[in-house]
Amino acid sequence: MEKFIKVAELKSRLSELRKDKTVGFVPTMGALHQGHLSLVRQCRSMCDITVVSIFVNPTQFTDKEDYRRYPRTLEADGEILEHAGCDIVFAPAEEEIYPEKDERIFDFGELDKVMEGKFRPGHFNGVAQVVSRLFDIVNPDKSFFGQKDFQQVSIIKNMVRQLNLTTETVVCPIVREQSGLAMSSRNMLLTEIQRKEAAKISGALFYIKEQAVTTPVNEVRDEAIRRINSSPELEVEYLEIVDANTLQPVSGWDEAAEIFVCTAVHAGKIRLIDNVQLK
Ligand code: PAJ
Repeated sequence: MEKFIKVAELKSRLSELRKDKTVGFVPTMGALHQGHLSLVRQCRSMCDITVVSIFVNPTQFTDKEDYRRYPRTLEADGEILEHAGCDIVFAPAEEEIYPEKDERIFDFGELDKVMEGKFRPGHFNGVAQVVSRLFDIVNPDKSFFGQKDFQQVSIIKNMVRQLNLTTETVVCPIVREQSGLAMSSRNMLLTEIQRKEAAKISGALFYIKEQAVTTPVNEVRDEAIRRINSSPELEVEYLEIVDANTLQPVSGWDEAAEIFVCTAVHAGKIRLIDNVQLK
């Protein structure tokens, strides 16, 4: 596995490789777990060269404390990626990604006004800044994202269209712990009891999936919120049943062809997100 920290060196190596090989890209913020590794595996199965970036992007954090607290485990990540068969890891310093302040403001219409975008204003603008910059550096044939960040996938696809990029975005399913808890780098910040209780989040989402189409939307939504909030460790920030295309809430099961439930829940100071496809 080759390691790069400089943009110029990575670019020059990739331009050599790209002559006769396809390049796949998995952007991450590190603290790698099986969710990330599923993306790496998918990338390896579809591309000749797998590039993984590790960069905790300051512009997408809307809470300084969250940025400071975000787990950084670069050395362990390197070993994990080596074992996973990653070809190239790119772990740049902030100055490499942002030699100048990124002032770009993206227009995502309604897509970033709801859910994560509503509770973390500016978050998706920061995601778009860093991912477009990384795409510019890596110039991947295919790029791999997790369904775990459902709204992020919509934003990236929209950005790729807006910027006329040629990379194909491949979306990979959510990897869960045995308890059902969606894997996340932030899970390692949970106390043992929070981690146990956090299984109630996916429990409530799968409850909705069972009831979907036969029970009214608002009824299952209220019950799911009640189930999560019944834990003294958890507090729902939002739980929305939405049209997968517009991300707007639906009030009936026939209002959209594809429907997802998305939620953000606070477990103490840690904020967890999850989603399940209902239809
Ligand atoms: P990060 O949270 O590190 O996630 C990197 C990628 O792994 C994302 O595409 C995310 O959806 C995926 N992922 C995380 N947990 C997963 C799980 N349990 N199952 C499947 N996939 C999972 O998302 C980001 O970083 C950043 O916003 C980034 C895109 C790198 C831009 O900074």
